[in-house]
Amino acid sequence: MIVAIDGPSGSGKSSVAREVARRCGLTYLDTGAMYRSVAYLCLERGVDPEDDARTAEVARAARIEFSGEGGRRVVADGEDVTEAIRTAEVERAVSPVSANPAVREAMVAQQRRVGETGDVVAEGRDIGTVVFPGADVKVFLTASPEARARRRAVQRQGGDLARGREVAVDARAERAILDDLVRRDAYDSSREASPLRPADDAARIDSSEMGFDEVVDAIVALSPELAARAGEARA
Ligand code: DC
Repeated sequence: MIVAIDGPSGSGKSSVAREVARRCGLTYLDTGAMYRSVAYLCLERGVDPEDDARTAEVARAARIEFSGEGGRRVVADGEDVTEAIRTAEVERAVSPVSANPAVREAMVAQQRRVGETGDVVAEGRDIGTVVFPGADVKVFLTASPEARARRRAVQRQGGDLARGREVAVDARAERAILDDLVRRDAYDSSREASPLRPADDAARIDSSEMGFDEVVDAIVALSPELAARAGEARA
């Protein structure tokens, strides 16, 4: 079965998708990590992320794999890039890279190959609309920009709001995160190639006022098959 989880940056998609996959015995696929890997490979090789033709070549040749427990490690062309794809430099480069239709075509083809292997929870921006329009379960996960910025800021300080681990954050840092989120949302939603938008048949979940487990439970409850798998996996 295929579960598609889409939503803006900072909505908590990644941790939620990973937990749904773990509870239900499905493979987790982080498609954002794939676009980030292409951006990273471009920077490594001196390819300008705005150069659509050369960026597309990098994407077509890239071998991106997930390994380790829960598919947590990201390996691009044989190099473990798990941490390297989370830098501010990669974050800046990934916007033009992911707006390039030829890059998207190459990534979508790879993602569908993973889907063919069976049971997957895929997370991104266009999973329910483009990659797996026939997914068994589709979720569009949102939260207010303020809630998302707050979670990120706390996370950067080593806390985790979803699990009740509150830490003090600098108001200016939080404001900067909020500005960046709003900018990225606008970019992702307004680009021509596969803009971020909910599939018509996606269940919309606003997690602004919800805890982590509550969101995971709500997604599992959307489908009797998922609920059965979660029950079986626990038994
Ligand atoms: O989810 P993330 O922050 O790791 O995504 C990184 C970037 O990749 C983000 O700018 C949006 C883009 N992306 C995309 O265009 N399509 C996807 N399916 C996943 C991510």
